[in-house]
Amino acid sequence: MSSIRWHHGFLDSLELQDNWRPNKIVSSLLFHQVPAGQKKVLIEEIWNLLEPGGMVLIADYMKQENPLMRALFRATVQRLDGFADTQPNADGVMEKHISARFIDSMRLARFNTPTGAISLWRGYKARTSN
Ligand SMILES: C[S@@+](CC[C@H](N)C(=O)[O-])C[C@H]1O[C@@H](n2cnc3c(N)ncnc32)[C@H](O)[C@@H]1O
Repeated sequence: MSSIRWHHGFLDSLELQDNWRPNKIVSSLLFHQVPAGQKKVLIEEIWNLLEPGGMVLIADYMKQENPLMRALFRATVQRLDGFADTQPNADGVMEKHISARFIDSMRLARFNTPTGAISLWRGYKARTSN
């Protein structure tokens, strides 16, 4: 059996079988489109799905720390996707949610792109969860 299972669709309609839980969840360029009030909910869903000790990797537009990246993000992604859902990311809300829920969370990389800075964050679900 493959050690990778692909799921298409929304996390909250995910049906896991045979008591199987993923030990890694990867999210790519999703969160900046998620409504402001749902970002934390989705982080919780990821935490709930992971097996204890499991790892999450999230790549997305997060805090836009320098003026050039902020301007590029505003002129491209925010122009296309709107401000309501994207501004919390630019203000650094994702870093707070990830750090609050996962242990040993840290930014592994940040890429400056023509559409703004994209950060790659990692975090672990504690083995003794609460
Ligand atoms: C910028 S695209 C990224 C696509 C792909 N993950 C990648 O990295 O190339 C954002 C994707 O997130 C999806 N999306 C936006 N909000 C979502 C949500 N609340 N739940 C699930 N998918 C969502 C969109 O339909 C779109 O396919």
